[in-house]
Amino acid sequence: MLEEITYEFYDEVDSTNDKIKLRARAGEKEGLVISADCQTAGKGRVGRVWKNPVAEQIATSILLRPEEVSIDAIPSMTILSAMAVNQALYKVCGLRGEIKWPNDLVVNKKKICGILHEMELKDGGIAFVVAGIGVNVHNKSFPEDIAFKATSVDLELEAAGIDKKVDRRVLTEAIWESFKGYYNKFLETRDLTGVKEEYESQLANKGKPVRIEDPNGAYEAVCLGINEKGALVVDVDGEKREIESGEVSVRGLYGYV
Ligand code: BTN
Repeated sequence: MLEEITYEFYDEVDSTNDKIKLRARAGEKEGLVISADCQTAGKGRVGRVWKNPVAEQIATSILLRPEEVSIDAIPSMTILSAMAVNQALYKVCGLRGEIKWPNDLVVNKKKICGILHEMELKDGGIAFVVAGIGVNVHNKSFPEDIAFKATSVDLELEAAGIDKKVDRRVLTEAIWESFKGYYNKFLETRDLTGVKEEYESQLANKGKPVRIEDPNGAYEAVCLGINEKGALVVDVDGEKREIESGEVSVRGLYGYV
């Protein structure tokens, strides 16, 4: 069980994920959170760069040492991070997001955060997991190539007519407090059984038609929910199929989400 969370805030780091890894290798215990005002080498998924201008975003990572969890179950933990950010955004800012399977958190159909989990193995077992989260908070605009699908807390508060200045530290702490609740539920069964229902209530395409971009050929289906391992469950012409993340990408029939 994750009990105590300890916070360290820095002005600038290379990557909060990499900082956590160094501390983990030096024997740090589970629950250390490292956050930074700016990252000089922020990492995105599939080797991409995560740009992190000074004082605009949240860049934060936590050290986890999940015991008795199978290596196969670790990738599904990104779902816990998406749920944690969604819950914290609602509690602190009053914003309601939806999750685009598996872990893209969107507000008004635009992505508001990025999630990168990394795992290190030792002697064939899990040495540690780093859960890294970047949230767009004070961004007023985005580069042209992503402007159509990116948003920030400030932009969404403005659109909703809410006059509020969000404190990034308060939001960061709320994210990890929420994460703790979901993570401890995950540890009880070592899978997503305990959070599945809540996740499905936030799933953007639940009950709707989606397009599955399978490398062997795209097809249409209806999104039903997820299973306890985090696979997407869809209905294809009356037949249930389970889709592993990483295998395919899933889109609604209209727009990015
Ligand atoms: C994505 O590509 O969508 C994932 C981006 C993840 C960025 C966060 S910011 C905090 C943590 N540290 C990193 O270097 N990356 C993650």
